[in-house]
Amino acid sequence: MSEAIVKPIEAIIAETRQEIQPYVFKRLEARTPRKAGQKIARTITVTSGKGGVGKTSLVVNMAICLSQAGQKVIVLDADLGLANIDVVFGVRPTYSLIDVLNGEKNIDEIMVQGPRGVQIIAGGSGVRELANIESEKSERLFAQLRFLEDKADFLLIDTGAGISDSVLSFCRAADQVVVITNTEPTSLTDAYGIIKVLSTQSPESKVSVLVNRVEEDEEGIHVYDRLSKVAKDFLNFDIKFMGTLPQDRNMHIAIRQQTPLMVFSPMSPAATELRKIVSKTIFEIPETFTDQNQTGFFDKVAQFFKGGSRK
Ligand SMILES: Nc1ncnc2c1ncn2[C@@H]1O[C@H](COP(=O)(O)OP(=O)(O)OP(=O)(O)O)[C@@H](O)[C@H]1O
Ligand SMILES: [Mg+2]
Repeated sequence: MSEAIVKPIEAIIAETRQEIQPYVFKRLEARTPRKAGQKIARTITVTSGKGGVGKTSLVVNMAICLSQAGQKVIVLDADLGLANIDVVFGVRPTYSLIDVLNGEKNIDEIMVQGPRGVQIIAGGSGVRELANIESEKSERLFAQLRFLEDKADFLLIDTGAGISDSVLSFCRAADQVVVITNTEPTSLTDAYGIIKVLSTQSPESKVSVLVNRVEEDEEGIHVYDRLSKVAKDFLNFDIKFMGTLPQDRNMHIAIRQQTPLMVFSPMSPAATELRKIVSKTIFEIPETFTDQNQTGFFDKVAQFFKGGSRK
């Protein structure tokens, strides 16, 4: 690779560190001492209701961005129906969660290293709904997944389209839920749908909304304002604004090249905006290890699958 190409990327990595590092330090300072066995990873589940609005692209590029800022990131493709995060990362894992489910591999053996040190757990395809898996198999899966929480600063979960029990369980167990929508009414309706279910099943959920593929910022802010107002008026539920990402043709090219946008075109409009969003919003929830939040992410997911899901 020529120096001309290497230099800007190095500069961007340094810039990302500089932008994000103060938030990292703040977060570390805010941490209360951890008791043995407590989780460390912050879990963020990305969901949308409607398919094809940019969940996978967001997870992949957010992971790269956090990793460039010195954070240890594991990405889990929780879509066992049409898993494809490995394709967007441009990695070719031999094994997936299906092999863990079948008891043929341990989680360590299926995790692959992606660009910029991000660790990836491929979902595999063929199982429609995690919730439908026999309990013995899912116990084994969750027992393995629990190890991940002590291995990363961030665990990013990419979910499939729809509002299935699996998707909801991953949302309800997360520290933060990012609902991504575009400006089309169908996407907005589905975003509202998932917010509605979360507001009743899990009112303590911290939900942020990201409006993707906007032509102008104002358009996205307007969409968010409408969503926020109906959530408040009809559900009495507060959501937060995460930001807007511009419509960016580089996203398509990056996916075709099987290289994450953050690596393929780090100065592109969407990559630039995402770096700002990550610095501003990802570290905003204070981290405290209290007795109430001792239960790890996957323990919670497992509980929801076992039937404790509908309060
Ligand atoms: N900001 C953007 N600008 C332009 N294109 C985008 C943008 N974000 C996402 N896309 C495009 O939208 C398409 C769908 O994106 P992606 O696969 O991330 O969606 P998804 O929500 O994960 O879909 P699925 O529900 O099928 O899992 C891709 O072709 C991607 O390139
Ligand atoms: Mg996807």
